[in-house]
Amino acid sequence: MAAPPQIAVLGAGIFVKSQYIPRLAEIAHLLSLKYIWSRTEESSKVAVEIAKQHFPGVECKWGDQGLNDIIQDAYLLGVAVVLAGQAQVDISLKLLKAGKHVIQEKPAAASTPKIETALASYNSICTKPGQPIWSVAENYRFELAFVESKKLMADIGDMMNVQVIIEGSMNSSNPYFSSSWRRNFEGGFILDMGVHFIAALRMMVGSEVASVSAITSHIDTTLPPPDIISSNFKLENGCSGVFVMVVSASSPKIIWRVVGSKGTLQVERGKKDGKHGYVVALYSADGQCKSTFYPFSGVNEELKAFIHDILQASLKKESGYEAEPRSSFLEGARDVAVLEAMLESGSMGGALVHVKKF
Ligand SMILES: *[C@@H]1O[C@H](CO)[C@@H](O)[C@H](O)[C@H]1NC(C)=O
Repeated sequence: MAAPPQIAVLGAGIFVKSQYIPRLAEIAHLLSLKYIWSRTEESSKVAVEIAKQHFPGVECKWGDQGLNDIIQDAYLLGVAVVLAGQAQVDISLKLLKAGKHVIQEKPAAASTPKIETALASYNSICTKPGQPIWSVAENYRFELAFVESKKLMADIGDMMNVQVIIEGSMNSSNPYFSSSWRRNFEGGFILDMGVHFIAALRMMVGSEVASVSAITSHIDTTLPPPDIISSNFKLENGCSGVFVMVVSASSPKIIWRVVGSKGTLQVERGKKDGKHGYVVALYSADGQCKSTFYPFSGVNEELKAFIHDILQASLKKESGYEAEPRSSFLEGARDVAVLEAMLESGSMGGALVHVKKF
């Protein structure tokens, strides 16, 4: 058996401490966490202290020198990039050029022009086989709730209409509320959080969003603009739908609902036995409803897929290896393109905008 792949985590923010370290700890038998890097020594040390309980050998790295050490460590196979949205793409490309496999946090990039530049740069590194893997971590495509609902779509007949209603809870109690990079991000929380909801939508319906027409507004001035978006959209299969996102609502609700000729499928965020997750409900024409609760599993599944991919890629370098398509940079790019089109339409008072294709 091959030795577990060695990986590094770049970033030591809230998401690393509250999600990456615990989720990596759950699959600690599959990998070796070698480094945690941050811009400052202080913050990398705090994260390393937490990670040490599960990965006793993890080392602290910081600053330019620390990043160089990581790039030059020939034994290091993969890197998780969990940094400010504005900084991620440049650092990911730097690592990819050094031959490291990368899993980068969403959003794939801040805009479609940036995505085009990034893809050109990535494709110039080296062509398949042997191109390092570039994954974008958005987790929703790995949630069992959406994997299962994609299968259930076959039971609702012809797709007639889609509704995605997101009433979020991004208020001052949320640990990400004050995150400075999100406040300086074009599109604010709508783009940063919205990619998740678009990812789930695209996965469920199995058709791309072709065009949109949206109204945006800025009501809660403690949030960056816009904080509300109401968009109509048309899928490539001709089906119409609405996407509504209220960044901060006093009574949160998150649902995806697909109305078909023989039934309706609904996925709703919920809680059962103290666990957060999703209720997938299939309503059929005879008035029956079959519903199942799926606890969150996406971050764990996505990290497992990445570890599996980089190990396979390192074993099959010459013959080539097809990485998990759900976490490809292209999928992340397509989610950004949909939201960018909605935001652009909103800034033009609802004009019809075609979604950029990747
Ligand atoms: C923020 O939203 C959550 C969930 O709706 C709520 O429980 C909490 O009281 C809100 N906090 C503030 C400061 O409004």
